[in-house]
Amino acid sequence: MREFLGRRVICAPMAAVTSADFRYMVRKFTDTLVFSEMCSAHALVHNPNLLTARIYAWDHPIALQIYGANPGKMVEAAKIAEKLGADVLDINMGCARRIITKQGAGAAFLKKPEFARNLIRELIKNVSIPVSLKTRIGWDKFQPGFFEQISDCDLAFLTIHGRTARAGFSGDVDTGAIASVKKILSVPVVGNGNLFTPGKAVEMLEKTGCDAVMVARGMMGRPRFAEACINAVNGEPVREVSEEEIISDLLEHARKFCEINATTSLKKFRQHIYWYFKTFRKTPEFYDRIQKVNDYNHLEAFVEWFSGSVPSARENGSHQA
Ligand SMILES: Cc1cc2nc3c(=O)[nH]c(=O)nc-3n(C[C@H](O)[C@H](O)[C@H](O)COP(=O)(O)O)c2cc1C
Repeated sequence: MREFLGRRVICAPMAAVTSADFRYMVRKFTDTLVFSEMCSAHALVHNPNLLTARIYAWDHPIALQIYGANPGKMVEAAKIAEKLGADVLDINMGCARRIITKQGAGAAFLKKPEFARNLIRELIKNVSIPVSLKTRIGWDKFQPGFFEQISDCDLAFLTIHGRTARAGFSGDVDTGAIASVKKILSVPVVGNGNLFTPGKAVEMLEKTGCDAVMVARGMMGRPRFAEACINAVNGEPVREVSEEEIISDLLEHARKFCEINATTSLKKFRQHIYWYFKTFRKTPEFYDRIQKVNDYNHLEAFVEWFSGSVPSARENGSHQA
């Protein structure tokens, strides 16, 4: 299933971030594989119209990610994901949030490799779309045994975040462990973790020998980031995104957010506004004003004020965190 990894850079699932409005923006700039937010198998089975699982005509190719610990519910959810039009079904065995692991889902599967293997095989048996897996290097240390155990599963590919579940997001990404997993598995391996610049994406490919990389937080407020990484991987020049482009992406994203969510309120969108401005110089007045942005008109007024009041506002490159 290498065609899904043909660009060698894919876009991560991020709960409460990679919703349809965000994916719409990413999709404008790249034709690579993009992930949904993770969807609870239980919730999907009880409500197949779940907003997090909604797939749009422009969304392809898309991997829909499900999580859960109950094999019956996971199989049912996988079938629903297929019917909804997912191009790939991704199984979450990497989420380290306690609310997920205490149910035995997400990264908790790292503690029960045989159960993980059986579930993967069951899911593959029950859908005709490719099935992939996203996990971490281990629960509290690198666990080559987990990957050996699942090595005979016919996964489309496996994405590995180069940290343990215990580490969360702290510490370095263990590229050595990713390289070892690549050697253990015969299916394509996707390396993930701390890829905040296009150069880092290239470095991850070189250091680990993996087939592709997955970008996550680097995309926040940067819908063109995956495209920049793809260019770097192809040895093509990476163009800086201009201030005007960042602001016009922000405004378009906000309009799409309102349209998809049938709302005029931007309160739940505010995190994205901060991310779009992450490389801009910010004053106390910036924070004061941004907190008052509640709808699209406020956002336009805010952007107008910002552009007029801070002539050269950039403090970092557009492709830096
Ligand atoms: C806000 C947020 C939400 C996330 N949600 C998911 C998720 O739904 N499913 C998943 O497999 N990983 C999720 N992740 C993990 C990312 O996909 C990725 O593995 C991790 O952020 C490491 O990559 P990065 O260092 O490039 O951000 C999430 C990460 C963040 C920051």
